[in-house]
Amino acid sequence: MSRRRLLAGGAVAGLAAVAPGARPAAADPGARPAAAADLSTGTATVAFHGQRQSGIAEDPPAHAAFVAFTLAKGTDRAALARMLRLLSDDASRLTQGTPALGDTDATLATLPARLTVTFGFGPGLYKAAGLPAPVADLPAFTVDRLEPRWTGGDFLLQICADDPLTVAHAQRMLIKDARPFAAIRWVQQGFRRSPGVQAPEHTQRNVLGQLDGTANPRGAVLDAAVWNPDGSTTLVVRRIRAEIEKWDMLSTGDKESAAGRRLASGAPLSGQAEHDEPDFTALDAAGLPAMPDFSHVTRAHVTDPALKILRRPYNYDGAPDAAGRPDAGLIFAAYQRDIARQFLPIQRRLAEKDLLNEWITPIGSAVFAVPPGCPDDGWIGEQLLS
Ligand code: HEM
Repeated sequence: MSRRRLLAGGAVAGLAAVAPGARPAAADPGARPAAAADLSTGTATVAFHGQRQSGIAEDPPAHAAFVAFTLAKGTDRAALARMLRLLSDDASRLTQGTPALGDTDATLATLPARLTVTFGFGPGLYKAAGLPAPVADLPAFTVDRLEPRWTGGDFLLQICADDPLTVAHAQRMLIKDARPFAAIRWVQQGFRRSPGVQAPEHTQRNVLGQLDGTANPRGAVLDAAVWNPDGSTTLVVRRIRAEIEKWDMLSTGDKESAAGRRLASGAPLSGQAEHDEPDFTALDAAGLPAMPDFSHVTRAHVTDPALKILRRPYNYDGAPDAAGRPDAGLIFAAYQRDIARQFLPIQRRLAEKDLLNEWITPIGSAVFAVPPGCPDDGWIGEQLLS
């Protein structure tokens, strides 16, 4: 019998096996009627105005574009104020589902899908304005293989929404209005799970298959670790390539030792459930530390709540090369009050000894001060530049 007939016959036999007693789902008295489509994702909005910028403490939407600019020569304090007034106006409209002034595709603005636009000021913006910079480029780490095309930036727009067309439209409108003042330095586009795929409180997996975000600060701890009293914060963006095909060669046990957590449940190797506190003194059956001292979690762990960082990473997955090797990893975005006190000690410990370094490579790096939000009649950066 040919393979084709075998498959066809198998399929028919399969149907016959199901047929007796089977009824189409719609005729089943217990079957649920088809649910009405839930369209609330498209119309959902996040406030733009307020003491703190949006796009930081909320659950990250599914899509993000990080757009970094180099200021044009001659963009001084007055020009910066003009640019930021314009971009704040655009963002205040687009995030609420209203077209930007002069929007060339107004219909694309009507589904904001939780759109947020977050403004970051790099060291170069302060220099251009003749002001002291509250942030400085990170020092070099031995693990870094930084590429200029993903590194630095005078000014950043972090654009997030639950829909990629919304992000694309906002990105295009904002770039158009920034054009007289600044050139694109780099754009990094990333994604997380789509809304509705999992319960919102479920920790998401990254492209390496790990549950990522378990130990992130929440509630009052997040507030104290991320926000300065004036509503400002700071952002570190690292593009970290994942060496996925090398990672694929590891056993599950080896992947778990590198991270310090179980792949399936996200539980620390010293515990049972995802949110069990890791116990760095626990020993395994062989008498060795259950949490290896080279594991990512052991190295990254922070006990002082004030020194935690808020990780808000997005996956990236570009076109594979000719041999089919993936171009994937994380756009690792971390928010904290103070980069020197919070981010740097963690990054130093990871660079020094983190087994995960075998399978991840930082290829881009940038730092930004994130100024406070603004009131309805204000603009982002007003306190600094007006
Ligand atoms: C591609 C790069 C990275 C991957 C795949 C990764 C993955 C993970 C995973 C799976 C966890 C455990 C679950 C969780 O709490 O989220 C974790 C925890 C953590 N990571 Fe990373 N990470 C990466 C880069 C970084 C970087 C660059 C930093 C900071 C410099 C960092 C800081 C942390 C911190 C602070 C924790 C929580 C540790 C704790 O207190 O338990 N990670 N990471």
